[in-house]
Amino acid sequence: MTSLAHTINERFTFVDQTEKEDQTAFARDVRIGLTASPKHLPCRYLYDRTGSLLFERICDLPEYYVTRTEREILRERAGEICDLLPDPTTLVELGSGSSAKTRVLIEAILTDRETLHYVPVDVSREMLRTTSVALLKAFDGLEITAVAGDYRKGLCFAENTLDEPKCFLWLGSSIGNFDRVAARDFLRLIRDTMTESDRLLLGIDLRKSRDVLERAYDDSQGVTAQFNKNLLVRINRELDGDFNLESFDHRVHYDEEAGRVEMHLVSKVEQTVRIDRLALNVPFTRNESIHTGYSYKYSLDEIDELARSADLRPQRRWLDAQRRFSLNLFARTDACNLQNPLATAKT
Ligand code: AVJ
Repeated sequence: MTSLAHTINERFTFVDQTEKEDQTAFARDVRIGLTASPKHLPCRYLYDRTGSLLFERICDLPEYYVTRTEREILRERAGEICDLLPDPTTLVELGSGSSAKTRVLIEAILTDRETLHYVPVDVSREMLRTTSVALLKAFDGLEITAVAGDYRKGLCFAENTLDEPKCFLWLGSSIGNFDRVAARDFLRLIRDTMTESDRLLLGIDLRKSRDVLERAYDDSQGVTAQFNKNLLVRINRELDGDFNLESFDHRVHYDEEAGRVEMHLVSKVEQTVRIDRLALNVPFTRNESIHTGYSYKYSLDEIDELARSADLRPQRRWLDAQRRFSLNLFARTDACNLQNPLATAKT
């Protein structure tokens, strides 16, 4: 693994572990997905520059309760969370994005403690830089090591270079992008990089009524539709495609038994789409869909089961009053000094 560590000043280090923008991976995955039956595209490609900005707008939508609810819980419980973390603890955040929610936690910790080491991990270098500069300006006691790279790079970095006890943060129910087996496997990976004194603070969205869920992913302003269709825009731009956005509908379906919201792009007409850079013609029948992502939801029992299967022990869980979202603090099953095991609190 190559790693470029730049010490910007005594409080800010930037570690670049991004791989070369892999245009061939995108081309390959688009070909695989659009020649498969049923058609599908990996949801990680939704987050190019435009997609990331659209996702930030989704987080502010009235229907998208996820971000707001998690932030409320964090606001309400930051002090309690802080009390459960050893002093000092390095905060390692997977997929830090704008760090807006984490700010609440950082603030609470620095009310109690003189210094804090924060390690945001994100694939977007620009986002990391802007966010870090703003945080360092706001908090004197803060030291930041920003890691540009994917989750795995971040875990590797944490395991090999950080010696203080760590608290991994994985917020926003990003775990919902993974199917249940992949979610367990990834939690095991986090667990395997944890020491006995490390913790994991995991935000998981809960199962709830169909209409609340379907509205959260199909908002009245059409921002989520635009976010979903941006994938076609990206194919048009990067692979010389000729997708006509007007001829596709954003469609959302909650599969209650599987406990997942499915996002689709559905062709309104029979048509053939040309993708020049792939020398590919993609035929669509009327109403044929491209599946562009899942968002898995969990019951409290499913969270317990997930943790058990990943060898993690629930130390504490916080819910909002409407039981829409959960924040879960986990330790390794062999960790000692767990206060309040299995306690659940509601704000
Ligand atoms: C970033 C995966 C948590 O599934 O709620 C939101 C992505 N897609 N609206 C989610 C998303 C459409 C989001 N996650």
